[in-house]
Amino acid sequence: MIEDVAPTDINGDFTGKDIVSIGQFTKVDVERLMDEADAMAQLVRTNGRTQLLQDKLIAVLFYEPSTRTYLSFESAAKRLGAATISTQGTDTSSISKGETLEDTIRVIERYVDVICMRHSQAGAAKLAASAATKPVINGGDGVGEHPTQALLDLFTIRQKTTKPLDQLRVTMLGDLKNGRTVHSLSRLLAMYGVKLNLVAPRGLGMPDEVLADLKKADTVNVQTDKLEDVLKDTDVLYVTRVQKERFTDQAEYERLKHQYVITLKIMEQASPSMIVMHPLPRVGEIDPQIDADSRAVYFDQAENGMYVRMALLALVCGRSVL
Ligand code: NCD
Repeated sequence: MIEDVAPTDINGDFTGKDIVSIGQFTKVDVERLMDEADAMAQLVRTNGRTQLLQDKLIAVLFYEPSTRTYLSFESAAKRLGAATISTQGTDTSSISKGETLEDTIRVIERYVDVICMRHSQAGAAKLAASAATKPVINGGDGVGEHPTQALLDLFTIRQKTTKPLDQLRVTMLGDLKNGRTVHSLSRLLAMYGVKLNLVAPRGLGMPDEVLADLKKADTVNVQTDKLEDVLKDTDVLYVTRVQKERFTDQAEYERLKHQYVITLKIMEQASPSMIVMHPLPRVGEIDPQIDADSRAVYFDQAENGMYVRMALLALVCGRSVL
């Protein structure tokens, strides 16, 4: 039986570390990563790719449906010159034969240098990281965390806004209970003194353990179920999908799924400099007519995700382009 141990803090050195939780990062670590991601963006624009990780093999194991994040890790690895092996879903894997995640990970790490994984259970990435001696990068563990998404979201916020972070108001909207992206992003923004407005339907609010962390850092500005309470006081509107796959009662999902829909009318009422973010996929929360508005930055987020994941993969392998 593998003991499930807390991941090691980055503490100025990414080499060989797992990336499981935002709690492993200090601001200095985040800044280091952002600088590396900037350099990766530059590199892709000028050269398309590099051979920095040409001697590495990276596993991308996604046990839960994904297109974007899966291909983002694949693209990041390949743009760094690494080779990849990948699986999607559990049907073709030994997990369907009853193998434990720990055993699967202990086998795969004999083949590869880094494991990027997504799993439907919260805590699975931590367990895999405990079982492996090679770096494990959490690409989302159930309703737990999604640290790489939080880091790319911060990268995008810095790219698209002009105010200092500690003067920024970020409104998180939607399923804050089940949405792992907001669990990681809210904790990351708390480190920077960002003030958060939390807007969720009743029953889908931020989990108590996340709220406790946010309140300790004095991060929460307003908690409400009405977007109009905070819309004018918002620099970044972070929209999320109601997480259908986490509902046991589908009628409840249907009732809640479109409680908030961002329309052209809402955009007219918002600040002319307010950006709209979404981790995607969107399923009706944002009217596609808004895509043409320069304040809509959700596709830029996806692009930035590749640069941030390139930076992370390079750094955990002890490499850098800086
Ligand atoms: C998010 C996820 O998987 O948590 N998507 C993503 O990683 N791009 C958000 C979501 O699925 O709603």
